Amino acid sequence: MSRSQGNAKGRTVTLHMVSSLDGFIAKKDNSVAWMESGGVYEAGVSISAEEIATFLKAIDCYVMGSRTYEHALELGWPYGDTPTVVVTSRKLSASRESVEFYSGDLERLVDVKLAPRFRNIWLVGGAALCQSFLSLSLVDEIRLTIAPVLLGDGLRLFGGLVAEKRWDLKNVVAFKNGFVELSYAAST
Ligand SMILES: NC(=O)c1ccc[n+]([C@@H]2O[C@H](COP(=O)([O-])OP(=O)(O)OC[C@H]3O[C@@H](n4cnc5c(N)ncnc54)[C@H](OP(=O)(O)O)[C@@H]3O)[C@@H](O)[C@H]2O)c1
Repeated sequence: MSRSQGNAKGRTVTLHMVSSLDGFIAKKDNSVAWMESGGVYEAGVSISAEEIATFLKAIDCYVMGSRTYEHALELGWPYGDTPTVVVTSRKLSASRESVEFYSGDLERLVDVKLAPRFRNIWLVGGAALCQSFLSLSLVDEIRLTIAPVLLGDGLRLFGGLVAEKRWDLKNVVAFKNGFVELSYAAST
C-alpha cells in the first residue's frame, strides 16, 4: 500500500511478525538463528533486493514495544530511517533521529498521533504490544511469516488475553526458503 492509500479510517495498521510453526516469536535466550532460512522449497517464489526495497519504502512508520526496540538495537537496527514510535513507560534515550517514544493511551497514539501523519503503519512487535493493539481492535491487517521450525518453547505470539475474532484470509505466499506469509484483514 502506498503512502497515499489507507482504509476508510484513513490509515492501515498492519501487525507483522515472524512466528515458528508452534506459535513462538522469540526463544528464551533471544537468539534469532531460527529465523534464518534452512531448506529450499522449489515451488516457492523468491524476491529480489529491489522488490524488498520498494516494499519497505511504502511503509510510513513502525510501532514497537520497548523490549523489541532494545533487541532491534542489539541486532543492528533493521528499520532504516523510517519513522519509528517506541511504546514505553520508561525514559529511554533515542538512539536515532527517526525514533520517538510514546507512553499512554494506544487509541490516542493511533488516531491522534499517527493517523494524521501516516497511512501505512506497521506494528512489528513484540507479543505484549501486539496483544494490547489486538485487544483494542487497533489492528486492520495481520501478516504472519511462518518459519519452518518448531521451537518448543519461548514467547508466544498470541499468548495473552486475545478475544475470539474472525479474520479474512487475503493472501498466501510461499517462499523458496520455506517460509510462508499469511495475510489477513479484520473481518467486518
Ligand atoms: N519474531 C518476530 O517477528 C518478533 C517481532 C518483534 C519482537 N520479537 C521479539 O519479541 C521480544 C519482545 O517482545 P515482548 O512481548 O517481550 O515485548 P514488547 O511488546 O516488545 O515490549 C513490551 C514493552 O513495551 C511497552 N508497552 C507495551 N504495551 C504498552 C502499553 N500498552 N503502554 C505502555 N507501554 C507498553 C512496555 O515498556 P516499558 O517496560 O519500557 O514501559 C513493555 O514492557 C523480543 O525477544 C523480540 O526480539 C520478535
